[in-house]
Amino acid sequence: MSIHIGATQGQIASTVLLPGDPLRAKYIAETFLHDVVCFNEVRGMWGYTGRYGDKTVSTMGSGMGMPTLSIYVNELVTEYNVETLIRVGTCGAFQPDLKIGDVVLAMTASTDSHVNKLRFDGKDYAPAASFDLLLKAYNVAIDRGINVQVGGIFSGDTFYNDDPDWWKIWSEYGALVVEMESNGLYTLGAKFKISTLSILTVSDSLVTGEASTAEQREKGFAQMAEIALEIAA
Ligand code: HPA
Repeated sequence: MSIHIGATQGQIASTVLLPGDPLRAKYIAETFLHDVVCFNEVRGMWGYTGRYGDKTVSTMGSGMGMPTLSIYVNELVTEYNVETLIRVGTCGAFQPDLKIGDVVLAMTASTDSHVNKLRFDGKDYAPAASFDLLLKAYNVAIDRGINVQVGGIFSGDTFYNDDPDWWKIWSEYGALVVEMESNGLYTLGAKFKISTLSILTVSDSLVTGEASTAEQREKGFAQMAEIALEIAA
């Protein structure tokens, strides 16, 4: 047991899929895995390990935002020897050619978080995805005919912003989408020398104001989970 995860040693696989929402972890376990064991109930942050074909894979909620995700990532790596973390989450589009349901693979993530400013003494750090995971995910998406884009994204510390135009500067500089976790995930991946990738589905657009329906969200989520399971070691 670690401070925030109730699993015993050996209960968590070396690859963990991390949706923000713990109920999405439950959905992945129930929909795609067999021989499933629930390893965490602490704070309702459900975690499961099961079999996908001949692979053993785990999935657990990360919560929303970098502070919460970082707690789980630290404990998964340092207490349970996890070696690959794949975020599966939703994002808001910054670019007009990104449509609801499109998949984005985050190559890097800019941020307004000050965590890395503190860590790097005021200097900027550019955290990056693991290229082997990114390439595999890209190839799976292309093989399946999924609309996929690869590029830099923005991981924000606030979901609700006072300035309605806050996102435009990031859009102008080519960031594809906004979410709230990948910068933290990739930074800790580098620190711990493990593999990390964020696979994201567009759930809303800051350009058009469009948002996905519950049905679109479920379909998009299943598609993303399947890409992540295919590339799991
Ligand atoms: N902002 C932040 N995170 C998000 C968004 C958004 O618009 N959409 C999905 N995750």
